Amino acid sequence: MKKSLRILLAALLPAAAALLSGCERPPIETVQTGYRGTGMEQIYNPRTLLKQASLNQAPVAPEAASADGPKAKEIYQNVQVLGDLSVAQFSRHMASITQWVSPDEGCAYCHNVQNFAEDSKYTKVVARRMIEMTQRVNQDWKPHVAATGVTCYTCHRGNNIPTNVWFAPKDRKYANSVMGDLAGQNLAARSVGLTSLPFDPFTPYLKDAAQIRVNSNEAMVVRGDGKNLSSTKQAEHTYSLMVHMSESLGVNCTYCHNTRNFASWEESRPQRVTAWYGIRMARDLNNDYMTPLTSTFPDHRLGPQGDVAKVNCTTCHQGAYKPLYGAAMAKDYPELQALAKP
Ligand code: HEC
Ligand code: HEC
Ligand code: HEC
Ligand code: HEC
Repeated sequence: MKKSLRILLAALLPAAAALLSGCERPPIETVQTGYRGTGMEQIYNPRTLLKQASLNQAPVAPEAASADGPKAKEIYQNVQVLGDLSVAQFSRHMASITQWVSPDEGCAYCHNVQNFAEDSKYTKVVARRMIEMTQRVNQDWKPHVAATGVTCYTCHRGNNIPTNVWFAPKDRKYANSVMGDLAGQNLAARSVGLTSLPFDPFTPYLKDAAQIRVNSNEAMVVRGDGKNLSSTKQAEHTYSLMVHMSESLGVNCTYCHNTRNFASWEESRPQRVTAWYGIRMARDLNNDYMTPLTSTFPDHRLGPQGDVAKVNCTTCHQGAYKPLYGAAMAKDYPELQALAKP
């Protein structure tokens, strides 16, 4: 080998190694999820899957409690939602939510233990609304959660605050700096998989109902308000939501789309329809449950813009295609299956 070539190789090899270290090391597993030849495959890293598996174990449910005896509303003073449970069922429910939300702090996280009827802690007021939110998901969002359903554990996993929530990001207009106006993008943001896509796909799509579909057969489709719906900028916003969705489920775009035609529903997998409902469900939870609780939370729980913590796909999914890999926990808690009758 010529000396100059050897020197060149010696210089290039470490550079190549450095570049490749950004890739995942083998083995990588591929699972076909669509029709053959369409490239609809899922690429999994077995090491990530192993880590995920331990994060997604559902706790064992305690034995069902007897429905006999007086009802909670007959015995207790301030039971507004779960009044029709028997006292035994009610106690089982209190023990379960303690395990799911405040295992370290116990009953005192929500109660003044001198007087359980008192609503003096904000956590109790929030928890009451959370019970209704969980019932709402299981009752009205079956097109998304099916019979699997959710419990407090789906989001909380033994934490006071679910590990994945979102706030409206702080203002990054940098009026007086060289950075200028970032236009809501151009940072390597975690919320969008370290891409430079718009870093807040949540406010427009999981709170407001901005248009997600951008494909069109015509150029420059202009809406009533004069905005171009099929612009590159619009597409970047859609992509940032899609990256969030893929990351939160731990899947590739081909889990839902045949990527030769992103827009086509005929060529998509049924999971894309489930996801469509998921977007509407997240919006519903954020607008009907989370946002109205804003003034109930203390200031230190609010985000940089003063808004409450909200739900996105990761809040429930946490990297799994189905939360807890589809463990059907909710069936063991009939009181969370449907909204209590007023
Ligand atoms: C995550 C918050 C939370 C935790 C933790 C919690 N509770 Fe509760 N508790 C509530 C809520 C909310 C209500 C009211 C339910 C309703 O309105 O239907 C309530 C009501 C009660 C009541 C009825 C009081 C009355 O007279 O109105 C009792 C008793 C009670 N809880 C006992 C317990 C015990 C014992 C524990 C610990 C094992 C516990 N709770 C843990 C949120 C909590
Ligand atoms: C869909 C996801 C989801 C489910 C299901 C859910 N929660 Fe929450 N919970 C949240 C979010 C988001 C917050 C806001 C985080 C914060 O407190 O800043 C929250 C906050 C709370 C808080 C206030 C904690 C604090 O310290 O600020 C309590 C208490 C609570 N939830 C109890 C419950 C109970 C009890 C259930 C089941 C009946 C439940 N949650 C089900 C998402 C969920
Ligand atoms: C979990 C399912 C799911 C995954 C994964 C997913 N998408 Fe989507 N995608 C959807 C749904 C649902 C819609 C339609 C949303 C709506 O209209 O409310 C959509 C819409 C789109 C659109 C707009 C199509 C149109 O009609 O204009 C594009 C482009 C797109 N996705 C690209 C991607 C890319 C790129 C990825 C991977 C980074 C991806 N998607 C991952 C479910 C998914
Ligand atoms: C309140 C919790 C919750 C939230 C928030 C949530 N999901 Fe789900 N999702 C579930 C549950 C539970 C299932 C399992 C349903 C079943 O067993 O069929 C599920 C199933 C799915 C599936 C079907 C997977 C399959 O292989 O059949 C897709 C796709 C999905 N979710 C996408 C999303 C997307 C995208 C978002 C955010 C826009 C989202 N989910 C938000 C709870 C949630």
